[in-house]
Amino acid sequence: MCGIVGYIGNRDSVNVLIDGLEKLEYRGYDSAGIAILNDNNNIEMKKYKGRLAILKENIKEVNIKGNLGIGHTRWATHGEPSDRNSHPHLNPSKTISVVHNGIIENFNQLREELQGKGYEFLSETDTEVIPHLIDYYYNGNLLDAIKKAIERLEGAFAIVVMSKEEPEKLIAVRKDSPLIIGVGEGENFIASDIPAVINYTRKIYLLENEEMAVLEKDNISIMDFKGNVIEKEIYNVTWDISQAEKGGYDHFMIKEIFEQPKALRDTISPRITKDGSIKLDNINITKEYIKNINKIYIVACGTAYHAGIVGKSLIEKYAKIPVLTDVASEFRYNNPFIDEKTLMIVVSQSGETADTLAALRLAKEKGARTLALCNVVGSSIAREADDVFYTWAGPEIAVASTKAYTTQVAAFIIIALYLGKLNENISDSEYNTILKEVIKLPEKVDYILNDIFKVKDIASNMMNQDDIFFIGRGIDYNVAMEGSLKLKEVSYIHSEAMAAGELKHGTLALIEEGTPVIALATQDNLYDKMISNIREVKARGGYIIAVSKEGNTSIEKSADKVIYIPDTMDDIIGILSIIPLQLISYYVALGKNCDVDKPRNLAKSVTVE
Ligand code: F6R
Repeated sequence: MCGIVGYIGNRDSVNVLIDGLEKLEYRGYDSAGIAILNDNNNIEMKKYKGRLAILKENIKEVNIKGNLGIGHTRWATHGEPSDRNSHPHLNPSKTISVVHNGIIENFNQLREELQGKGYEFLSETDTEVIPHLIDYYYNGNLLDAIKKAIERLEGAFAIVVMSKEEPEKLIAVRKDSPLIIGVGEGENFIASDIPAVINYTRKIYLLENEEMAVLEKDNISIMDFKGNVIEKEIYNVTWDISQAEKGGYDHFMIKEIFEQPKALRDTISPRITKDGSIKLDNINITKEYIKNINKIYIVACGTAYHAGIVGKSLIEKYAKIPVLTDVASEFRYNNPFIDEKTLMIVVSQSGETADTLAALRLAKEKGARTLALCNVVGSSIAREADDVFYTWAGPEIAVASTKAYTTQVAAFIIIALYLGKLNENISDSEYNTILKEVIKLPEKVDYILNDIFKVKDIASNMMNQDDIFFIGRGIDYNVAMEGSLKLKEVSYIHSEAMAAGELKHGTLALIEEGTPVIALATQDNLYDKMISNIREVKARGGYIIAVSKEGNTSIEKSADKVIYIPDTMDDIIGILSIIPLQLISYYVALGKNCDVDKPRNLAKSVTVE
């Protein structure tokens, strides 16, 4: 995710752009930059690694003036956060400037092609191909050049283009990344999100996918990619600005829960080729290597660790390699048996968690090859690991991790299948069947999120509880652990996850009349056993809230309430079963008036041991 903003009018565009970027910083804060067409008709550009505050500090003393400009706040994808990789980007003759949100999937190929034509690249970004391509196609008409350039682009892109050759306009293009137009009087605005323009206008055009717009001071033309003119209705914004940074949601946590279909799509799709096989760019694990290792270690903290334990089951099943798991804070002091025949997988949303980083370094010292599953590009863990698998979840701002978890589990599914294929331990038919189901996961998450009435109702009866237990078997138990962590961290209600088969070995003693127990029963091969465990709890007075697959209606005989999720394969259903648990945690915390996004005593990125 990145935030983009553009202005054309009579105001000092620097102020308008900085103001807009401030409202978009939630979309990424690895770097920020602006390009202004100054009064001498030259493009002046300022861009810096780090938060917007650094850009602001740096332009304080510099007198840039102009009424046309574009700005960007970056969440790095291709190329680490640095001044050079910051946006805007220019064509070589500095006549065209571009800001971009999205990922150009075929940028490598385009870059090589353009280099062949003599174009020089100054950054490692995918974006830089865009001004160069526009430059290549420019023949006196900016709009035509942009149309030709975007025909060549694969992937997602919201872009805004400014050119000194045509100083009376801004051109914006939307494909799979958001863009809105703010309609003013004698001025117009373009941005990734409404908050960036709402101080100036409440009249908005919402650009749809595959639409483009030419903004002039007194005119806006909107068209499709073929040039057909589109008439649009103005959307009048009525809501309050303070909510808007969260995209209209009350909290980042709920916003991020609802972002999961997109986050999953972004994580899964680029890894699956058109012919239905897995391709992992930048991961250099070979067949020879995988056939020669004797074990895998998965090490992480908190939620990331919970994704790791799902990863263990999957890798052991598909790749038939023994996997050990540990929380990073324990791993280092447990004398782990690591050598050059160990593949060490570390999992970290932030890429900065001190314990995980230390575990990674220890494993490297002992000669292991290291693979990081990370969400933040250019983070320490991502930089230090031998290979990185990025989860493209976008910035996760709420302290309680939601979309990072589901994308980490998705990453493990892909890695497990990839390793299984490499060492020839999974059949083609199993591999193909699972992949086909994996692709459907985002839409199934969407389906769950479209009907949350029951979950809200269940949550409304849980706020006054002192203890809530989670039980499950197999992957359901792994997911129960994550559900329990989510509930306790945001609602401060004591909670434990228990392996359902273990209850009778001690923990069943905790169940009293009315004790709420969330029972996950999604695994076909464990369903009957799970029903028996539910009955054991029920017989001791427990109040059962079951999570099971649509069609498993027999569970209603044993449970007090049932939340149904769509059917999919046992191994990958954790991505669906966690969604109602995240929602329950959120609504319980909300009902208790807890600080949902910033739970007490916690921080987002734990950089101390
Ligand atoms: C819980 C949560 C934490 C993190 C843990 C690791 O909701 O967010 O448990 O998962 O602190 O953080 P990363 O993934 O950044 O290493």
